[in-house]
Amino acid sequence: MCGIVGYIGDKQAQDVLISGLSRLEYRGYDSAGIATIEDDALRVEKKKGRLVNLENILEKTPLSGKVGIGHTRWATHGVPSDLNAHPHASVNREIAVVHNGIIENYMPLKEELKSQGHIFVSDTDTEVIAHLLNALYTGDIVETVQIAMGKMKGSYALGILCANEPDKIVAVRKDSPLIVGLGNGENFIASDIPAILNYTREVYLLDNGEIAVLTKDNIQVLNIAGEIIDKEIFVVDWDPGAAEKEGYDHFMMKEMVEQPKAMMEALMGRCCESSISFTGLKLNEEMMKQINRIQIVACGTAYHAGMVGKYYFEKFARISVEAEVASEYRYKNPIVDKNTLLIVISQSGETADTLAAIRLAKDRGAWVLAVTNVVGSSIAREADDVIYTNAGPEIAVASTKAYVTQVGCMMLLASYLGKLNGKLGKADAARICHSLMMTPGLIDKALETQEVIKAFADKNHKIYDLFYMGRGLDLYTCMEGSLKLKEISYIHSEAYAAGELKHGPIALIEEGTIVVAMCTQENVFEKMLSNIKEVKARGAHVLAIVQEGHEDIASEVDEVWVIPNMDDDITPIPAVVYLQLLAYYLAVARGCDVDKPKNLAKSVTVE
Ligand code: F6R
Repeated sequence: MCGIVGYIGDKQAQDVLISGLSRLEYRGYDSAGIATIEDDALRVEKKKGRLVNLENILEKTPLSGKVGIGHTRWATHGVPSDLNAHPHASVNREIAVVHNGIIENYMPLKEELKSQGHIFVSDTDTEVIAHLLNALYTGDIVETVQIAMGKMKGSYALGILCANEPDKIVAVRKDSPLIVGLGNGENFIASDIPAILNYTREVYLLDNGEIAVLTKDNIQVLNIAGEIIDKEIFVVDWDPGAAEKEGYDHFMMKEMVEQPKAMMEALMGRCCESSISFTGLKLNEEMMKQINRIQIVACGTAYHAGMVGKYYFEKFARISVEAEVASEYRYKNPIVDKNTLLIVISQSGETADTLAAIRLAKDRGAWVLAVTNVVGSSIAREADDVIYTNAGPEIAVASTKAYVTQVGCMMLLASYLGKLNGKLGKADAARICHSLMMTPGLIDKALETQEVIKAFADKNHKIYDLFYMGRGLDLYTCMEGSLKLKEISYIHSEAYAAGELKHGPIALIEEGTIVVAMCTQENVFEKMLSNIKEVKARGAHVLAIVQEGHEDIASEVDEVWVIPNMDDDITPIPAVVYLQLLAYYLAVARGCDVDKPKNLAKSVTVE
């Protein structure tokens, strides 16, 4: 989704902006642009398509100036085009704006501005902001921004330049993330930490309604009334290299390879000497006694982790749990009150629908526990309690290491609550802990099978659809594998509870259709065999994934991948890695842009 970067200092702003934008490419975008000020004149260049298109133009006609703002746009209002790309400037070329979010009342504002003679050249809601600031300009851009904030409805993170006040950048945040980076003789703004990680690790995390005024040597943060706020510096502990490809062809491959380490980080300090604990978690035994309903809410891959979580809560803590996608939860008047524990899962910590679900549940008195990867993200800050997944920065749009750590945290949390409510005995807690500690090694084993998976993908990459089926925990692994495949390879795919196929989807199976049968759960293994026979009878080409000891399934299927023997409860963590790799190699064989799949964004900040 859209990315913002801004710079003021002694360097040429263009270089810092392009370097920052290149680190935001992973968010997904369809145009890019920058604006600088030099000799009190505003300069803007923007281009549809990849950042390289903009860079090619800037190579011929650079924008000089030591203050500037840049943007990568993911189209919402208006098609991807040069004109709709940001920055947007006022007609008198005095004010330029980059914007993440949506101005909900942009139509009435636009009509009013048009009636005052403003001429619009784009279809965007953002252009309205540039004109509005121009119309309201009092000679003081900070004061003007404060007035404009009273007129705009919706969500916005803004970077603003004013040619009359060339020594400052103004940044504003309302319901869309924005940070300010503190440098030495230079300062930065960004929508995401990786954009400025090469320059500084010290940041202010802006809160809703806050305005930051940056000069080269100073940063002032104000509230909407114009009062100065004392902000705490947040020190980012990510290593800049963590946001680089480090020799891998794709971030996705690098992040899959990092999964054993990510799991270790997620478990560290929480799973030791056969017991599970969460330092810093406010939710305690007393509070749990008041909770009579648990809901898990998330989107996409995080929702799949939520489904696995529901299974664990019911198994280990014997608590009934509802799991729902955030975009449905928030619009259906959910039953949620002060006795509800709402668990939200989000890699980015910025997903708009998940944030809205938190606000709804909090308004009704629920206790909100967030499981997220990004420290200081909006979701982490708005929740009552946080468990960090500690996976390190995830850059590829397709989530991999964040997912396995989310599942790991769900298993830990379910066991922890089972311990609190007395439903999980010591021996089981010790078993879970021990099994979880095996997952890094098991993921390593999965990664060692890459050649086999690649060969399968190279042979089958021309397929136009692929089915996954599984039972119990395997179903959620299938759903996640299917989502991964769709998003990066564009192959149509379905994931079904194996017992459901005969109720409809089996009609789609024909000669040669590939069906991945995930068979890691001992209690339903025989049932899976029956389902395999059903699809084989309709001509399916079946790839079965089984634990060691079930190799003899080979006589029933076309291909078998044998995974190490493990506790059935932890299979969602190592088993999904085989499906991530399958999606990856199919996408590579089809020549797809694995890290930047079409139409998708890393951080979905629109509803
Ligand atoms: C798919 C993927 C998405 C996200 C979803 C929620 O690989 O990453 O489905 O899981 O957009 O995002 P977060 O976890 O940031 O809330």
